[in-house]
Amino acid sequence: MGTESEKNDVAERAFRAELTQKAALVEQELQRLMDTQAAVPPRLREAMRYMLQGGGKRIRSVMVLWCCELTAGHITEAARFAAAAIEMVHTYSLIHDDLPAMDNDNMRRGRPSCHKQFDEATAILAGDGLLTLAFEVPARYISDPLTAVRIIRTLAEAAGPAGMIAGQMADLESQNVPGTMERLRYIHIHKTAKMFSAAAGMGAIAGNASEQDLSALLQYGLKIGLGFQIADDLLDVTASSEQLGKTAGKDAAQGKLTYPSLVGMDESRLLLRRVTEEAVAAIEPFGPRADLLRHLALEMLNRKK
Ligand code: IPE
Ligand code: IPE
Ligand code: MG
Ligand code: MG
Ligand code: MG
Repeated sequence: MGTESEKNDVAERAFRAELTQKAALVEQELQRLMDTQAAVPPRLREAMRYMLQGGGKRIRSVMVLWCCELTAGHITEAARFAAAAIEMVHTYSLIHDDLPAMDNDNMRRGRPSCHKQFDEATAILAGDGLLTLAFEVPARYISDPLTAVRIIRTLAEAAGPAGMIAGQMADLESQNVPGTMERLRYIHIHKTAKMFSAAAGMGAIAGNASEQDLSALLQYGLKIGLGFQIADDLLDVTASSEQLGKTAGKDAAQGKLTYPSLVGMDESRLLLRRVTEEAVAAIEPFGPRADLLRHLALEMLNRKK
């Protein structure tokens, strides 16, 4: 038996190794799927690949895989395609988020953003391409039709005009105007948390989870997503562009409604801690089987990028 800190080290190493291994699996799947896209015009395909396969922490897709493993005991075919699909939607959202008409950001994942590397029209179309392909993939490759439809619906609701798009709209409309906590929560739930909730939900569906487990994991994902975006807002203030791989300090420069701008850094950290605890509470019923998910939740507290 080691000391508490040795045990923590072991848990930390195991978590990192798992994360790396699952992220590699996602890369492989994305590579394989993009390799099948021979009919996509070369410049468009290049732009899609540039962003999709150009780094990214793969948090949402790894959540899909972990939630499937938790419920099914292994990674199902449906989970692999759902994981690839959510990375496609997420990547499209970043490409469009960076466009001059939106956040106007020149840097993404440590490289020029898509419209800088290519041009605006190509970036818009690369986003459109990834978004559409994200739905073709589960529709075409998941062999059980009911599972496919449930996964597609979960992703569409989270990403759609009452989900992430609603959040992005509210984010833009809240620039340089007085904001409220209610408005800010709306933005975070919609632009970010619903996609995390969908990631956990798709994993559960892919693992054929019970209704009870599905609802616990949807709740877990939502809370993780809230924590993730609060951490993103904090990092925009505290981290460097090199560290983040995207332009730091731009929220304040653009008059964005964020936790730091509305309630300050300390209160933001407190709220981050609270949603993290709520994420952990949501998966309590799974016991130690959910240790990876628990570790992922705590990871939100000391995210560096
Ligand atoms: C960035 O997401 C957009 C937010 C919702 C804050 P990530 O921080 O997951 O971006 P990548 O995929 O790792 O580049
Ligand atoms: C992004 O929020 C949410 C998306 C749906 C893309 P941000 O605008 O804060 O994300 P970053 O900081 O540019 O990655
Ligand atoms: Mg934005
Ligand atoms: Mg942005
Ligand atoms: Mg941000």
